[in-house]
Amino acid sequence: MEGQGEHHKPKKILCVGLVCLDIISVVDAFPQEDSDSRCVSQRWQRGGNASNSCTVLSLLGSPCAFMGSLCAGPVASFILEDFQRFQVEVHSPHERAACVTPTSLVISSAATGSRTILHMNSFIVDDFSRRSIDISRLAWQTTGQTPSACCVVCPSSGSRTVLLADTNIPDVTCEDFSAVDLSAFKWIHWEGRNADEQLKMMAEVARYNAASPPQHRIVVSVEIEKPREKLYQLFPHADVVFVSKDVARHLGFHTPQSALQGLRGRLRAGAVMICPWAEKGADAVDADGTLLHSDAFPPERLLDTLGAGDTFNAAVIHKLANGCRLQDALTFGCRVAGTKCGFHGYDGIA
Ligand code: ADP
Ligand code: FRU
Repeated sequence: MEGQGEHHKPKKILCVGLVCLDIISVVDAFPQEDSDSRCVSQRWQRGGNASNSCTVLSLLGSPCAFMGSLCAGPVASFILEDFQRFQVEVHSPHERAACVTPTSLVISSAATGSRTILHMNSFIVDDFSRRSIDISRLAWQTTGQTPSACCVVCPSSGSRTVLLADTNIPDVTCEDFSAVDLSAFKWIHWEGRNADEQLKMMAEVARYNAASPPQHRIVVSVEIEKPREKLYQLFPHADVVFVSKDVARHLGFHTPQSALQGLRGRLRAGAVMICPWAEKGADAVDADGTLLHSDAFPPERLLDTLGAGDTFNAAVIHKLANGCRLQDALTFGCRVAGTKCGFHGYDGIA
């Protein structure tokens, strides 16, 4: 059946990239350097572009999986627990199963109140539920620290300022990726990070696709968000490329249209490129060179723009993976991302 993997499970969307802890302070006004002030509120949230995009995909109803690095400890425990909110699967009307650590499965029964823990050597959990993020491909590292970020969200200006610490944990490698059964996926999205390794992973998918019939080929997307020269080698290796306004500006473009026109030559034949531009909405260039645009959908009250881009990417992928046209996906992406800016976090999306 189309869109179904082995054993007739629906094929998933895999997002490869960062998961981190976001410590988010909401402020009335951005603090002065060397000042000591109170914030309006503060919370911990699971963050990271690929991880946020999985959150949004799952809220929109796309079965998805996350692959990224964690290192055991209190921060990783917080992150796992949060992932767990998306891992409830119904085995029977009264029984729920969820993964809590890479080696155990907890089955709790709403009917009896019982809680059973099964320890497993391998971490295999079927997730048929609509809102689930499969984390069985997490790459557990034995060195470094789970990434974390201090985020200042300022509703009065719409800004979100992020200070990220993510450099002392190894990233997912091609070797980790080689262990993944690609037949479970219909789409793989990379957040551009360790580009040299990611190129090798993409080459693996290209080999898999070359040996597969058209209906089993995996669509590849990549986000080039940070203005880092190394990431630019990823442009010609995806079917869908998300390029940020930061990268566009860094490369000398002042509008999304000029960026798309100027960068289109870097894509492979048949690929499309998408460029979100905050309150100006988003633009795209189709495989035949047609430029597309969607206005933004500003919320009634701007509250939280942290992760707007990750939300946009997920919403666009959700639509494209379900066969929608690029223009419809672009408009949907702006609508969902704009709505998200009207509340804190992601839970209000669906
Ligand atoms: P990032 O969060 O990566 O910086 P952008 O700022 O480009 O990403 O925003 C991604 C998408 O989110 C935009 O295309 C737009 O649809 C939506 N968005 C972002 N900021 C706003 C805003 N202030 N008002 C309405 N929509 C917004
Ligand atoms: C939002 C985000 C945050 C994280 C930061 C990392 O796009 O993923 O969750 O702290 O960006 O760059």
